[in-house]
Amino acid sequence: MKIIEVKDYTEMSQKAAEYIIEKVCQNPKINLGLATGGTPVGTYKNLIEDHEKNGTSYQNVTTFNLDEYIGLSGENKNSYRYFMDEKLFNHIDINKNNTNIPRGDCKDIEEECLRYESLLANYGGIDLQILGIGSNGHIGFNEPGTTFTSQTHVIKLAPSTINANARFFKSIEEVPTKAITMGISTIMKSKEILLLVSGENKKEAIGKLLTGKVSESFPASVLKNHPCVTIIADKAAISGLKSHCQ
Ligand code: F6R
Repeated sequence: MKIIEVKDYTEMSQKAAEYIIEKVCQNPKINLGLATGGTPVGTYKNLIEDHEKNGTSYQNVTTFNLDEYIGLSGENKNSYRYFMDEKLFNHIDINKNNTNIPRGDCKDIEEECLRYESLLANYGGIDLQILGIGSNGHIGFNEPGTTFTSQTHVIKLAPSTINANARFFKSIEEVPTKAITMGISTIMKSKEILLLVSGENKKEAIGKLLTGKVSESFPASVLKNHPCVTIIADKAAISGLKSHCQ
């Protein structure tokens, strides 16, 4: 794993955007795997600014998001479809038909899992997957205990995830308790992974990732088995840890 330590959230967002823009320029038909949550918001803002200033085009880019809450339609302001449209897709020249997010409001959710997994396979998989990390080590919504062989599946959210995500909702009761998420093996099939980590509250998680064992009890640890992972982490999350593990 390559680790890039940066000063703060702003620098992480700049570096991450530069990284993505370079990949899009190298391969305008890139399949990008995208994340939601607080971590990538600044990165998406920079992608929009660059698109406006420098004209980087997403016309031929296809995107696949990691996850979606079960029970929320794309019109719901708390859905990840709504989030992605608001934070990125509405502001760049991407064709919305090329933006894929699991559907959380399907009648047959198991069918939706299969559809998403085979859609990914039909597109030849993800070239570059952007990830955040949960304080319990989840990637996507793969909570501790998820098998490393998992494909797109339904997951019951951990209480710590519900607590952490309550900040986006009016009340904690509104946070859905289940989600549909790419599995660990789905994520691991990505050709390349960019993990973004910011803030003191992620310090324990990144510490475990860098110094702990590979174990299903800490999902992000699987990334150690991937041949091409870059971590961009800010000082608040990583200072003191990097030298310890290199
Ligand atoms: C989001 C996702 C999650 C988040 C993680 C961190 O699509 O899959 O794994 O990356 O929960 O969330 P934030 O960035 O809000 O700390």
